[in-house]
Amino acid sequence: MSLCLNGQIDQIAGDWLIVPVCEQDDWRKPLVTLDQATGGLIGRLTNDDFTPKLGMALALRGVSGAAVRRLVLVGLGQEESLTPGGADRALRSAFRGITDRPDQHVAVWLGAVSPDRQALLAEAAATAAVVGSMGQDLYRTERVRYPLGRLDFAATDLGESTTKAIEQGTILGESINLTRELVNRSPQEVTPVGFTRRAEQVAAELGLTIQVFDQPRLEAERMRSLLAVARGSVEPPRMVVLEYRGGAADQAPLALVGKGVTFDSGGLSLKPTDGMLTMKCDMAGAATVLGAMSAIARLRLPVNVVALMGLVENMPSGSAFKLGEILTARNGVTIEVLNTDAEGRLVLADVLSYAVDSGVSRIIDLATLTGACVVALGEDVTGAFTNDQDWCNELVAAAKSAGEDLWQLPMFDLYDDLIKGEVGDIKNTGGRWGGAITAAKFLERFVGETPWVHLDIAGPSFASSARAYRDAGATGCMVKTLVEVARRSAHAG
Ligand code: BES
Ligand code: MN
Ligand code: ZN
Repeated sequence: MSLCLNGQIDQIAGDWLIVPVCEQDDWRKPLVTLDQATGGLIGRLTNDDFTPKLGMALALRGVSGAAVRRLVLVGLGQEESLTPGGADRALRSAFRGITDRPDQHVAVWLGAVSPDRQALLAEAAATAAVVGSMGQDLYRTERVRYPLGRLDFAATDLGESTTKAIEQGTILGESINLTRELVNRSPQEVTPVGFTRRAEQVAAELGLTIQVFDQPRLEAERMRSLLAVARGSVEPPRMVVLEYRGGAADQAPLALVGKGVTFDSGGLSLKPTDGMLTMKCDMAGAATVLGAMSAIARLRLPVNVVALMGLVENMPSGSAFKLGEILTARNGVTIEVLNTDAEGRLVLADVLSYAVDSGVSRIIDLATLTGACVVALGEDVTGAFTNDQDWCNELVAAAKSAGEDLWQLPMFDLYDDLIKGEVGDIKNTGGRWGGAITAAKFLERFVGETPWVHLDIAGPSFASSARAYRDAGATGCMVKTLVEVARRSAHAG
């Protein structure tokens, strides 16, 4: 669908031409050909009309003199400080603005950055095109946003690496959209079994090894903590284990672990309507892991990765697990149930201990785990928690480059007291204060010595309203960061 064209800017045809520009003494300079062809259109723009600050955009319609009649100027900020994440976000706004009708032919001009940044920009633009043109139209009879008809990339001196970057950016975008679609789908479709079916499709398409643990298998694994959460639902639980082997045969894999509560009613500690309304999003961790896994496999990164997804529905019923119950988790730790709405940690506990026993080298888990994390960091920022600072630093660096906001919270020993059990080893809530941290402290009991980072995505994975650069609903956050982590560990060897 995308083509690379060598040519002059005024000869690029299409419904829209997107022109990313960087801040410099005179940002108009790289656009002199366009300015001349359009009779001085660019030169007439004042700083009130447009400045190339990162994220600024200006759409111009009815342009004459060039092959294209509509332009979007997109600010990228200072070229030296341009990151893949910054470029992606700026360009998503541009694509969101022009995909309100079907079959648009869009071209992106790559000629306003230096040749060594062309690939970075091309990858970001490809991702932005795929993600920005996909809205929340799964169940609408009339769409709001449409996929592009055709996407071209153009410059006067296209680099060799640009074609590859476009391919990679497209894969990233499609993987983010896979995560978004799974989260946005109705919870009647995306049950544990429904999610598993989708994972099986992905595995078949990409040639990944897949293992599906059904109820008897989970019982045989003594995953009683996960099973307790599933007990109140008519939907049977699953654990899905996907494996990608792109690295050396003797290299222990990186584990990506996802919370997949396909609907969180709270169980017997039932949520009020407002709190329950968006709880189909409670499998976003698992969906993020699946999206990242599909990108890592399609990019053929030279790493070994195993994805583990714990899938249950949390419902109240006559068979639901109860407050005051004592559960024995897979690793033997006993857990007092103080609140059935703190179910995510119960699911992850057993999946994490399974991951550790299967001999993984490092773990990242992703979970819409606590409202407390949203209170602490706001709706846009992922909380990070770790037992290994070096490993966490790698993640922080990857997130920075991917342009995803992540902030580490402390894991001081004093928090351990808050989850100490009265009659069992630990309890599943730590009281009112520091709820995101006590939840992480709970998880820490199941990862042993394995370097581990827990990412609480309760805020950023599902958006209550749209922004210039994204639709409301599922965001696909952290897919890019996970892929970046895998890319970096591939380089590290
Ligand atoms: N799935 C929720 C957390 C959540 C809240 C996700 C808001 C997305 C948006 C989780 O299972 C939960 O209910 N957590 C409780 C824990 C409490 C009972 C200790 C919470 O945050 O209130
Ligand atoms: Mn809950
Ligand atoms: Zn939950």
